[in-house]
Amino acid sequence: MSHPGFDNYVALSQTRQVARLPFITFEGTEGCGKSTQVQRLVARLESIGVPFLVTREPGGTPIGETIRELLQFAPQGTGMTPETELLLFEASRSQLVREVIKPALEAGSCVISDRFFDSTTVYQGAARKLDLKVVRQINLFAVDQCIPDLTIVLDIDAKTAQARMQKPRRPDRMEQEPAEFYERVRDAYRQLAAEEPRRVSLIDGSKSADQIEDEIWSLITSRFPTVASQFARTTARS
Ligand SMILES: Nc1ncnc2c1ncn2[C@@H]1O[C@H](COP(=O)(O)OP(=O)(O)OP(=O)(O)O)[C@@H](O)[C@H]1O
Ligand SMILES: [Mg+2]
Repeated sequence: MSHPGFDNYVALSQTRQVARLPFITFEGTEGCGKSTQVQRLVARLESIGVPFLVTREPGGTPIGETIRELLQFAPQGTGMTPETELLLFEASRSQLVREVIKPALEAGSCVISDRFFDSTTVYQGAARKLDLKVVRQINLFAVDQCIPDLTIVLDIDAKTAQARMQKPRRPDRMEQEPAEFYERVRDAYRQLAAEEPRRVSLIDGSKSADQIEDEIWSLITSRFPTVASQFARTTARS
């Protein structure tokens, strides 16, 4: 997965000094535990008084939520080409970055997103096999230099994910893909973590939700002094 666009990511994500609160994204295959861990992280931030904003992709804005419905459940979606799919995800993302994420970071909030541009690299690039260079370029255009400070990938095998998704739910278009598609997705996430080890942390998603929550919290407090100092203040008080 080595290509020119990748250098841009690394340059942007590694040269930025993070004095403000961080922008953190959660990634991984369906059912890996993203939403569970987003909720747990939010509860921790709330308990120590760190301001935060939670969002998700696709969606997070009125325009984005309409696109989400079209992408995931609309009957017209069955005929959607991979190129259209890519552009719809990016349209939702560009709106979300400008309307929600950037203003929240600038206003002094931590921002947490359940999926972000790595999902597009992995699903539309690696799994749907669109030209990765093009995907990365459109990603960069959509995010306008708003690169996550930390991306947590919850890594689990397809069988475990499948078992977790047995609960009644409305399957979206991606969940109707064959098992081989998931393997490509998982491999691509692992590769991303190998390529960008500073930004992307791979966490074993098969552990208990409590263990994963602790691991993520250690990572965040060790990486971001703004969160750590608030945590230390609260612990000292109690
Ligand atoms: N570490 C864990 N161990 C066991 N079960 C878990 C764990 N984390 C989450 N679950 C359960 O697995 C299911 C899927 O978790 P969750 O909804 O958080 O995944 P997700 O990555 O957000 O999925 P999706 O991509 O479909 O939104 C839920 O029923 C959740 O309670
Ligand atoms: Mg979820």
